Amino acid sequence: MSLAVTLSRAQEGIAAPQVMVEVHLSGGLPSTSIVGLPEAAVREARDRVRVAIQNTAFEYPGRRVTVNLAPAELPKDGGRFDLPIALGILAASGQVPREKLDDCEFLGELALTGTLRSVSGVLPALLRARARGRRVVVPRENAAEAALVSDVDVRVADTLAEVCGWLRGAHELSMPVGIPSDGGADGGPDLADVRGQLQARRALEITAVGGHHLLLVGPPGTGKTMLAERLPGILPPLSESEALETCAVLSVAGQITDPKHWRRRPFRAPHHTASAVALVGGGSNPRPGEISLAHNGVLFLDELPEFSRHVLEVLREPMESGHIMISRAARQSTFPAQFQLVAAMNPCPCGHAGDPRCQCTPDQIQRYRARISGPLLDRIDLCVEVPPVPLADLGTPRGERDEDSATVRARVLKARRQSLMRAGRPNAEISTRELERDCALGPAERRWFESALERLGLSARAYHRVLRVARTIADLDGGAALLEREHLAEALQYRRF
Ligand SMILES: Nc1ncnc2c1ncn2[C@@H]1O[C@H](COP(=O)(O)OP(=O)(O)O)[C@@H](O)[C@H]1O
Ligand SMILES: [Mg+2]
Repeated sequence: MSLAVTLSRAQEGIAAPQVMVEVHLSGGLPSTSIVGLPEAAVREARDRVRVAIQNTAFEYPGRRVTVNLAPAELPKDGGRFDLPIALGILAASGQVPREKLDDCEFLGELALTGTLRSVSGVLPALLRARARGRRVVVPRENAAEAALVSDVDVRVADTLAEVCGWLRGAHELSMPVGIPSDGGADGGPDLADVRGQLQARRALEITAVGGHHLLLVGPPGTGKTMLAERLPGILPPLSESEALETCAVLSVAGQITDPKHWRRRPFRAPHHTASAVALVGGGSNPRPGEISLAHNGVLFLDELPEFSRHVLEVLREPMESGHIMISRAARQSTFPAQFQLVAAMNPCPCGHAGDPRCQCTPDQIQRYRARISGPLLDRIDLCVEVPPVPLADLGTPRGERDEDSATVRARVLKARRQSLMRAGRPNAEISTRELERDCALGPAERRWFESALERLGLSARAYHRVLRVARTIADLDGGAALLEREHLAEALQYRRF
């Protein structure tokens, strides 16, 4: 029979749907056609595969070769199908046995020499293959990434010849060797470096416990960037499944995961000139943006008012939903985007509002602040001032109030355990329904809280967000069931923009 089928996977968001590569040989003039919605890079596989097969000392069939990538409606991109196509052609022409092809998936781009080149999106493909109980063969260049997934039979190879030898039973293919992870805790900048800024430190800690969004406002050089960079270091380490999901996004974006630090929370700091596509993702073959690369971690937007208004507006929806759907003419992709926003800004264009040095007119200051829309501000749970630190304090050795990250992290973990036991997730993610149960107020507190909200003119969304922050503050304070007035008052204080 001159028909052979090999298995592979396409890439769609961070999903990896199965693709069957069917190869048929028939009489007629020698030719090769690839059907089944191939994009340019896949159409070019025809030439790469032919030369790679010839350079591997096999014969390219002198017949009519039809390659069908099924299902046909799924768009297929990249060089990832080269290896399964080559193996299909070799199996259909009887040059390699078919036995192992039934329960094995293949991914890999071929160089003209027959060498295997790395492909993007190996991690999501392995997760899907694991769910199906299948073996997978990937290029050796993807080994570090492949080693992150446990309980899946994955083999790595350098060349097409090596894979063919394995199919014939001539030798084994090696398994990828993992690099031990540091557990997500060590390295990274430490809070011990920051002098003063007690209020900002407190807000950072609350942010870490509850998974809230934070805005730091202050003149240049007061430690806003320093503080933001230190948030991942006080967050709980990623669980294995969270880490795999975060790495899957990196993998799809073609970025290499550092296997030593793969359990560390991501920290992404796109520049304010970044486009909307760079930030939220997009493209004809949709790729994840910074908000998805920050999935389960921190997105830091420095100089917030300098970002284009349009770019900031597209953030609003994923800030609440935790994912982003990108629609393009032919296709639609969903990427996870459960990030914590930390933003920083100067109080005015020159950065020194409140200081005699400041030359800005009230009108300029007003316009500068208005660049951040109300609906975006509404979604920021905590806003805190980061005032200048007296120069004398900067030179002094670390005092006992300049706690290090390990100390703060211990408190964060303890407080977060409360919300995990109660709702199974951080407070920022509890639903409005759960709020009634988890953020209960006594009658006196309720009256006080409602009148305070009215005075501040806060929206309904802000109301719920303040309650979540108050819940987090209560969790840091021992986790009592009823919220007290001091918890509410502190939460409200962070609402003053
Ligand atoms: N609170 C602080 N404690 C210690 N060093 C600080 C502090 N604030 C600023 N610095 C010093 O100033 C530099 C710039 O700080 P940075 O965080 O970038 O300021 P900002 O982002 O507020 O403009 C830091 O690298 C550090 O050397
Ligand atoms: Mg800065």
